[in-house]
Amino acid sequence: MKLIIAEDYTELSRIAADIVENQVLLKPDSCLGTVTGGSPAGMYLELVRRSREEGLDLSEISVINTDEYAGLSGDHPQSYRYYLEHRFLDPCKIPGERAAVPRGDAGDLEQECRRYEAFCRSHPADLQILGMGHTGHIGFNEPEDHFPEGSHIVSLAPETMAANAAYFESGEQMPTQAVTVGIGTIMGAKRILLLVSGSSKAEITYRFLCGKITPRVPATILRFHPAVTAVIDKDALSVVREKEPERLDLRAGGRKE
Ligand code: PGA
Repeated sequence: MKLIIAEDYTELSRIAADIVENQVLLKPDSCLGTVTGGSPAGMYLELVRRSREEGLDLSEISVINTDEYAGLSGDHPQSYRYYLEHRFLDPCKIPGERAAVPRGDAGDLEQECRRYEAFCRSHPADLQILGMGHTGHIGFNEPEDHFPEGSHIVSLAPETMAANAAYFESGEQMPTQAVTVGIGTIMGAKRILLLVSGSSKAEITYRFLCGKITPRVPATILRFHPAVTAVIDKDALSVVREKEPERLDLRAGGRKE
């Protein structure tokens, strides 16, 4: 795994946009695995800016999103389809039909998981973008006693509910379940870009980089993937720096503090 240490969230977002831009320059019809949420929001803003101001052409890419809240239709403002369309696809002129997101409002969610998994398997991501939740989740794969292989329905962990409640209006019922691609689906990506920012993620970042590889911290499995770049800012690395600073020297790929 290559670790890039970013000064702060702004730099992390710029580095992430550079990596996506390079991927698309190399292969204009790249398939990008995407996530929504706070971690990639600055990267999307930067990609939109580059597409508007610098002629970055993303119009040939296709997009496969990792997850969607159960029960929300794609036009619900808190749905991940809505987030992607408004913050990335529409402003970058990526046709909506080139983007796949699980249908959270499907009548039969089990069947939707099977459909989505078959689709993902036939469209492996050239570059899978990920954030890491406070529980160590990737996509919505929460801590468990095993690594779930394919797309499935999950119950959201209390920490995830608490972190994501901020995105919902007060009084609005937040979904308690989601459809997510599995750990096996994620590990099928050719390259992976993991973004982690902020002091609230410092403890889980320590467990991610320095702890055992375990489904109790799902992101640890990424250490077995052959082509992962983790862009992590200094705030998120504060516990690693305090407890095992030598890890940062050993792993700081192109950049050092
Ligand atoms: P965040 O969430 O990017 O909103 O912090 C990360 C995640 O839940 O995967």
